[in-house]
Amino acid sequence: VVYGVERSRDDIAAVLVNGLRRLEYRGYDSAGIALDDIVNPSTGERKPLVIKGPGSVGCLAEQVATALRSSPNFKVRQHVGLAHTRWATHGAPSVENSHPQASGPENEFLVVHNGIITNYAALKQVLGKRGYQFVSETDTEVVAVLLKHLYLEMKAVCDTVSFPRLVMLMMHELEGAYALAIRSQFFPGELVACKRGSPLVLGIAYHDGEQVHLVQHSEPAKTDASRSPASTPGAVESEGTTRAAMSAAETATANGRFESSAVAAARQRDGLEPASSGSVAKSTGGRCFRRRTPRRHSIDFKVAQVNLDCELPHGFSFNTSTSAPDSGMGERAGGVELFFASDVSALVEHTREVVVLEDNDVVHASADGSVDIFSFLDAESQSLLTQTRALCTLDIELEQIERGRFEHFMLKEIFEQPESIRGTMRGRVQPATGTVLLGGLRERLDDLVRSNRLIFVGCGTSYHAALACRQLVEQLTELPVSVELSSDFLDRACPLFRSDVCVFVSQSGETADTLEALRYAKRRHALTVGVVNVVGSAIARITDCGVHLNAGCEIGVASTKSYTSQIVAIIMIALLLSADRLSKQTRRREIIDGLAALPTAIERVLMLNDKLRMLAVGVLRDAVSILVCGRGYQYATCLEAALKIKEVSYIHTEGIHAGELKHGPLALIDQEMPMIVFATRDNGYEAICNAVHQLLARGNPQRMIVVCSEGDGHFFQGLGVGTTLEVPHTADCLQGVVNIVPMQLIAYHLAVARGLNVDQPRNLAKSVTVQ
Ligand code: G6P
Repeated sequence: VVYGVERSRDDIAAVLVNGLRRLEYRGYDSAGIALDDIVNPSTGERKPLVIKGPGSVGCLAEQVATALRSSPNFKVRQHVGLAHTRWATHGAPSVENSHPQASGPENEFLVVHNGIITNYAALKQVLGKRGYQFVSETDTEVVAVLLKHLYLEMKAVCDTVSFPRLVMLMMHELEGAYALAIRSQFFPGELVACKRGSPLVLGIAYHDGEQVHLVQHSEPAKTDASRSPASTPGAVESEGTTRAAMSAAETATANGRFESSAVAAARQRDGLEPASSGSVAKSTGGRCFRRRTPRRHSIDFKVAQVNLDCELPHGFSFNTSTSAPDSGMGERAGGVELFFASDVSALVEHTREVVVLEDNDVVHASADGSVDIFSFLDAESQSLLTQTRALCTLDIELEQIERGRFEHFMLKEIFEQPESIRGTMRGRVQPATGTVLLGGLRERLDDLVRSNRLIFVGCGTSYHAALACRQLVEQLTELPVSVELSSDFLDRACPLFRSDVCVFVSQSGETADTLEALRYAKRRHALTVGVVNVVGSAIARITDCGVHLNAGCEIGVASTKSYTSQIVAIIMIALLLSADRLSKQTRRREIIDGLAALPTAIERVLMLNDKLRMLAVGVLRDAVSILVCGRGYQYATCLEAALKIKEVSYIHTEGIHAGELKHGPLALIDQEMPMIVFATRDNGYEAICNAVHQLLARGNPQRMIVVCSEGDGHFFQGLGVGTTLEVPHTADCLQGVVNIVPMQLIAYHLAVARGLNVDQPRNLAKSVTVQ
């Protein structure tokens, strides 16, 4: 949304398309944009330019360029555009199913949506009975049509219809998860965005003459103050950090929850413990975003339960009166550009000033350039609340979301691992004293230590990371530890008790199943801990305490650096929980030393890159199926290696526990089957050597790859093994961090060799925000 800044349609299209490129990793089967209305001077009719269809953002960019060549390109000072990149949930990729979704052929309402409307079929039926036609199979189309229906109903009885109020009315009807951005020909120059369950951020870029409307609040905002961390960015700055870590890292810190890398780093630098979170939050006023139009209507709008089957007009009434602008808020003098996006990577090149919106927020950008954030209220509530939300400064550099010298994000992220692991440990692991500090767990440490059971919950790679650490966590804490797939945990309605600790592991912090499992655990009053990379994400905000990975943005759909950082983070938690156990000190020391040496060990493995490329091309490229075998700590490495290879190369790959070989998998072994075995030194070494013998006896030795400790290559070559990959030795529980790196590289080179889209594998998405 642009106000008061001269921009041509071409400029706006470029911003939208570029934003989509940044978000393409979230979904990439279709894309679309809607640009400003073109007004027919003789009829006054407004018509937005909508271009959408299946294919990549690149395809969309070409279509947009063609369309704009024949359209006027003069500069105007107001624009409202929408853009969307889709990963299909309802309906195959097609023009009709692409977003923006429209309320009808006239495009009265245009909607882009991230999430899933679970009751869309029922709504569609009711609207269908009222004569509305649908052209797509999407749940989102229902939103657009419902808006039109509600608008017409309201318009029949009221002179003025308020756009945000209309959206709130619509939200009463929606079930499921969504972040929506909506524009309408009935509200030219306006945009409403709202969210429940799916992420949404607002970025604000001011232009010449514009005062930045930042106000200091010495008290928390009056509405929903406990949830709204108005003063937290200031809190971080007051600790002497120059890097105000992004958005809700501070949210969490101020709530005594997660600790940002910046805080951890500062503490390490200053040798100080941070002030208690409570005093931090109170002592410094924060920068808040709360812009209100100088003259706005405060509407006494009685939102009764809006039932499509009853006559709408009876459900509400208007009473418009003018309220004064907030004191302390300046007037807008220049231009402003507002960016709404599912995540910050789409807007970071335009602004670092962002507001992380919360569930039930409804943001109204009105035609005069003012913005309000309202809270959606349930049917019983009678008034409209204006929300104050923290304005945060992003702490990411553009290069973090760019590929730089690498051809793909996946490769870049694999090579970043020495640094991302350092980021995870920075300010937390102190080899000199043998201690581990995790500020985000500090306030709940006693509860954690006293718990009866630890349950790790996650999906995909995050699940594997938890599995990789189970043995160590059991050993150091002497507690029963289970590792659960989020979906299965929910399906079983796993019994939980107050004395349980549930640790939710998630790169994105948004995965729908994991989020739902978290809500379930909260209902059961278990203590909830997050191990999350994306700061400000839903899981980071909802958990009672937690640890940020601080691994930096991960954009490749196949998770790589998050996996290694997740293992390191969970191991740090286990070290922290066992800090007072005398019997564990020797083991802790070994692991802390191992952690310190881990980045260098990974750097050495990365030097195998050329050999791994040749291996992928020479031995594995044409495989139909691959088996990956290991045991003990390396069982999780097998599962993760298999996942990496299958998701990017599309070669069926299976991770097998070596102890299970005789119970079925050996039947698969023939002269064609490539076999990868993890045989690095640990107390299962003898057993894994037996497995190597069994496989060699039945399979093709030339198609066997053994990952072994440095110095052991000759031994395996002597047995006839075709390829050995020698990797640095480290503590058993950390060996998986080293061993997974060559597998990531093999997966990457296989995908490249097979001509596949490495960063956007078919049918997969980075953030799975639907169940
Ligand atoms: C998707 C991604 C995986 C990821 C999984 C869990 O399937 O493609 O890479 O491991 O979700 O995501 P999370 O963000 O919760 O770690």
